[in-house]
Amino acid sequence: MKRYHVTTFGCQMNEHDSERMKGMLESIGYAEAPDPDAADLILFNTCSIREAADSKFLAHLGHAKRRKRERPDVVIGVGGCWAQSVKDEVFQKFPFVDVAFGPGQVHKLAEFLTSESLTAQGYFEFEGFAGDLPEKRAREFQGWVQISVGCNMKCSYCIVPSTRGRDVARPLQTLVADVERMASEGVTEVTLLGQNVNAYGRDLHRRGFTPATFAQLLEAIDAIDGIERIRYTSPHPQDMKEDVARAHAELSALCEHVHLPLQSGSSRLLKAMRRTYTRERYLDRVALLREHVPDVALTTDIIVGFPGETDEDFEQTLSLCEEVAYDGAFTFVYSPRRDTEAADFPDQVPHEVKVERMDRLVETIQRNAHERAQRFVGRTLEVLVEGPSRKDPTRLRGRSRHNKVVNFVGLAQPGDYVHVEIERATSQTLTGEESLLARATGGAAALAR
Ligand code: 5AD
Ligand code: SF4
Repeated sequence: MKRYHVTTFGCQMNEHDSERMKGMLESIGYAEAPDPDAADLILFNTCSIREAADSKFLAHLGHAKRRKRERPDVVIGVGGCWAQSVKDEVFQKFPFVDVAFGPGQVHKLAEFLTSESLTAQGYFEFEGFAGDLPEKRAREFQGWVQISVGCNMKCSYCIVPSTRGRDVARPLQTLVADVERMASEGVTEVTLLGQNVNAYGRDLHRRGFTPATFAQLLEAIDAIDGIERIRYTSPHPQDMKEDVARAHAELSALCEHVHLPLQSGSSRLLKAMRRTYTRERYLDRVALLREHVPDVALTTDIIVGFPGETDEDFEQTLSLCEEVAYDGAFTFVYSPRRDTEAADFPDQVPHEVKVERMDRLVETIQRNAHERAQRFVGRTLEVLVEGPSRKDPTRLRGRSRHNKVVNFVGLAQPGDYVHVEIERATSQTLTGEESLLARATGGAAALAR
């Protein structure tokens, strides 16, 4: 039996695509190898969002090259966003690569492998949904659901519209059927994925499908038996409307967490980024969410050092972070990307300035996240157990509905929902003890949401 190994870089959409790649490979008779050196097929699912992502992957590719020299029959495949962004150039630069494919062509991998093609092949159309392929889930109780691919926004820093194409939705009926199947296989938590999830469905009618909105999709998935938790990522602030805020209050499976990418707190910079909202509109959306779900956890993405960012712009970002008091944030130093508008903007910010701003931003984010997290101390939270704690294997680790990592002492198994009494909170994690009373009495899921 031939064996494959997939190394995944980048976002949750890539995690999803890799699970589908694995499922497809197993459906044509491959088995998973524990590491690349034990594999006949070495695959990389790549990311290109920042320069660091490119460099990280290129280091791995060097290892695969040496492997190919030792064993020329090993097949090397490169999929994902980096592959898409360089397309056929990959074969000139890296002649030992046998197959390259973009995110819209994952299905072509099986075709390539079964065709016994003797020449290297590249596949770069935007046509398929990896979500239509069979999946091999990393955890049996958690499922990714690809609701759409691509993005119609034109954020001036972002490479994704060129690596994943225009926004195309999978029909609501297809998604419901997929989640029903997952639920019948033991999935209780689903994460809906798309580059701009809350723009879901705008193209369905034109393509001959029943129209649907993101809020309707949430409602349909909430109604599926066995689905205890629904998460989604990422929404765009522009499309964060009342119906979705209300869904958070009304749908019992929809978690009390929204990841709402900000990017900058300066309206001037948001305009240069082509984010289509101002500071004030963003704050309105935050107020709307908090009005419907006062305890909602909010996280975000922020870029520092975007071209032309002045001290004043940066202060606006800091003040917005103080005002919102996020539960957490991913912070990125701006990285110019090929074929993006902002890469050619004048006034690129010097590296030292970016680093200094990043330090201040991280301090602000962490201080607020730490303070916000104290509201959980003394509460009993529902936790989905994921496995042993990373730092201390005698403890368990899971996530609360607010998407906080919870490390705790307890007896539960991965996949169990338990109640944990929270004793301590830092900016990143909560610590506590499984509430045995709740467990012994069957722990009604709604105990302490
Ligand atoms: N440089 C730095 N960060 C970026 N992001 C996207 N493109 C860039 C870039 N060129 C960040 C944004 C986005 C997150 C996934 O990555 O904050 O929300
Ligand atoms: Fe990386 Fe963006 Fe592609 Fe995800 S969509 S793999 S973050 S470039």
